[in-house]
Parts: sequence; C-alpha cells; structure tokens
Amino acid sequence: MKFNTRAIHSHHQHEKIYGAHTTPIYQTSTFIFENADQGGRRFSGEEEGFIYTRLGNPNMTEVGMRIANLEGTEKGLVTSSGMSAVSTTLMRHLSHGDHIIASDCLYGCSFGFITEVLPQYGIEVDTIDLTNEELLLNTIKDNTKVIYFETPANPTLKIIDIKKITTIAKSKGIKVVVDNTFMTPYLQSPIELGADIVIHSATKYIGGHGDVIAGIIVGKSEDINNIAFPYLKDFGGNSSPFDSWLLMRGIKTLGLRMERHCSNAQKVAEYLEKHPKIAKVYYPGLESFKGKEIADKQMRGYGGIIAFEMKDGFDAGKKLMDSVNMISLAVSLGTVDTLIQHPASMTHSPIPKEEREKGGITDGLVRLSIGIEDVEDILNDLDNALKK
Ligand SMILES: Cc1ncc(COP(=O)(O)O)c(C=O)c1O
Repeated sequence: MKFNTRAIHSHHQHEKIYGAHTTPIYQTSTFIFENADQGGRRFSGEEEGFIYTRLGNPNMTEVGMRIANLEGTEKGLVTSSGMSAVSTTLMRHLSHGDHIIASDCLYGCSFGFITEVLPQYGIEVDTIDLTNEELLLNTIKDNTKVIYFETPANPTLKIIDIKKITTIAKSKGIKVVVDNTFMTPYLQSPIELGADIVIHSATKYIGGHGDVIAGIIVGKSEDINNIAFPYLKDFGGNSSPFDSWLLMRGIKTLGLRMERHCSNAQKVAEYLEKHPKIAKVYYPGLESFKGKEIADKQMRGYGGIIAFEMKDGFDAGKKLMDSVNMISLAVSLGTVDTLIQHPASMTHSPIPKEEREKGGITDGLVRLSIGIEDVEDILNDLDNALKK
C-alpha cells in the first residue's frame, strides 16, 4: 500500500468487544493478568501482552508501529517528548569513554543535551560541520559510537547528505541517528539512505495540531528493543495513552498536511526573497539555497520551515514579530497555523552565542513555520507587518 493508505490503516488495533471503529484510548496504568502464571510469563517475555503502561500500552504500540511502517523500518516507540527520544536514544548508545560526533546546527535543547549533559557522564563530544567530509573523517576516532544530525537542521535548514554520512559510518561500525522532525516520513526516508535510528519531535508535524508534546524513536527491532528495555522503561520517558491517541489522529492526515505546508512555504519563501527589506532567505525550495542539490536528491518536498534575515538586523526582525496579526508569535513548529519566532533569544538560546554563530544562527535570523491556512492570508499578514 502507498503512504497515505498506510498512514490510515497500518497496524490498526481492531477493538473486538464493541467493534469501535477508531482505536479507543486505553487510559489505564496497569493491565490485569488472567492468573499468576500469566503475569510471570509476561514479565519473562515468554508471552506477549501488556503489563503496565510505562512498559507499553496499545495506543503507544499502534503509533510506534505505524510510524515505523511509514519510515520503512521494523519497530517504533512513542516517548513523552522529542527530547525524551533524543536523550533516551543517546544514553542507550553511549557510555563512559565513548565519543559522539554531532552536527554544529541542531535544535537548542538537543545541542545542550549533547554538549553539556553527555560530557558529565564521561562522553567525549565533537560538534562539527557535517557537510565537510574531510573534517568528519579527521574527527572520527576509535571510540566514536554515534553520529547525530538533523537535516534540514533547525533553524537554518542546513542540509546534510544522509547517504554520504551513513556510508562513512557503516565502514567504521558507527551508529547514525537522524532527527527527521522537519521532513517527516512523508518527505524523507533516512533509513532507506542507511541511517540506523530515526527520531522525531512528534510534537511538530506528526501531531500537527499543536496540542501534544511527544517523541518517536524508530529502527530495527533489535535496536528498538534495546532502547525500550531497560532505558525507556527505567528512565520512564514514555508517552501517555491520550497523547498517543492524539498523535494517531494527526498521522492519518500527515501526507495531506505536508503537501499544503510545502506549497504554502514555497510561495512565502519566493515572496520574502523578493522583498526589499529582507536580506537573505533560507528555504530548500529556492534556487539560491546552498544545499538545494542534496535536498533534491534526498527529499521529496522542501517542508514548511523558512528562516530569513532582515536587512536592518535583529531590531527589524523584532518589530516584524511584534507586528504580525494572524500569525502567532510562538516557538514550536509544524502546526496547522503559521508561527513566527526568534531562534537566538528563544529556541536556540541554550547554545552559547559563539557556538550559535558557528552553526549559522545569527542574532538577526527569524524562523517561520508555515501553516496550512490559505496562503493569501499568510502573505497579507506578512506584507502588512513588513510595511510597519
Ligand atoms: C528538530 C527538533 N528535534 C527535537 C526537538 C525536541 O522536541 P520536543 O519539544 O517535543 O521535546 C525539537 C523541538 O523543537 C526540534 O525542533
């Protein structure tokens, strides 16, 4: 079956007692065993079945398996947030004395977790420009266990060649973890390009409606089982039945929404690029975009996120953010409505200024998450705000 059909039908857990059409919310913390022997068998793994919602729940299984299917892999987990997906995956794969190479442009809290938290556990960290192959080869050491990146990256949309990185990593036995939040499985398939594990902030496009915080981890069953037990189980960063149910509702319209996010964003990016008050627009669908060639190779669309710099720098950007009307001044992204925010003082403020600038996140950069409203209304709102 094709993507949109799988987004609606794959791994649907048919409810047998009342014949409910959609999956009910299994809002229960624990599950009853038929007898003590069965409880023992479930704990030992001899028998499949649910035990306790922190260890698994039908709503969580359904979402994890559906996203795994859409990403072209075997198994998935739903976590309490995108950061839980990032931290649980990395803690599973790194121990004292290991080394991780991460991209120099990442979502602020991911960058903070990797550069500030991991070293406290004796893990060595290098953040580098992963578009520079020679630099990557020179940074890899005998103890390098993980290469971690986002592509397109938050917030500059920096594009990293997934196939190139996974080919180098495979030859050296290094795991590649890709954050596919900006693209979703509808627009990019890192696993097909050799990545071992894909994570998402499902808070964004997968949920899609701005009403849930959640994360996803998908990969081969063996890798996912090793993250689930004991890491997710004992760190306790799993999702909840209701949040998973909300995600499932979002997933069914993912393809439709992504098509509209892409077409709206393309029009807005082209409008901004021509505007006399804008100095530079970063959007992979523009001919002027630096990573366009690789984007065209590995992406099936350019997504809904645009970053840009105003000619008059941060003060002009601030005035613009304070002047929009329909568009909300808010962090997060991937919601049905359009959002605007300032990475340097908001989402990427955990990164020191010097490091931010190394990753291309200047003080003047403004980020737009284009929604699925009628594009004329987005353009009108921006036009009026730019006039001010
Ligand atoms: C690319 C990316 N990864 C991970 C996260 C963290 O996700 P969450 O806020 O759901 O914890 C975010 C949040 O903005 C993000 O943009």
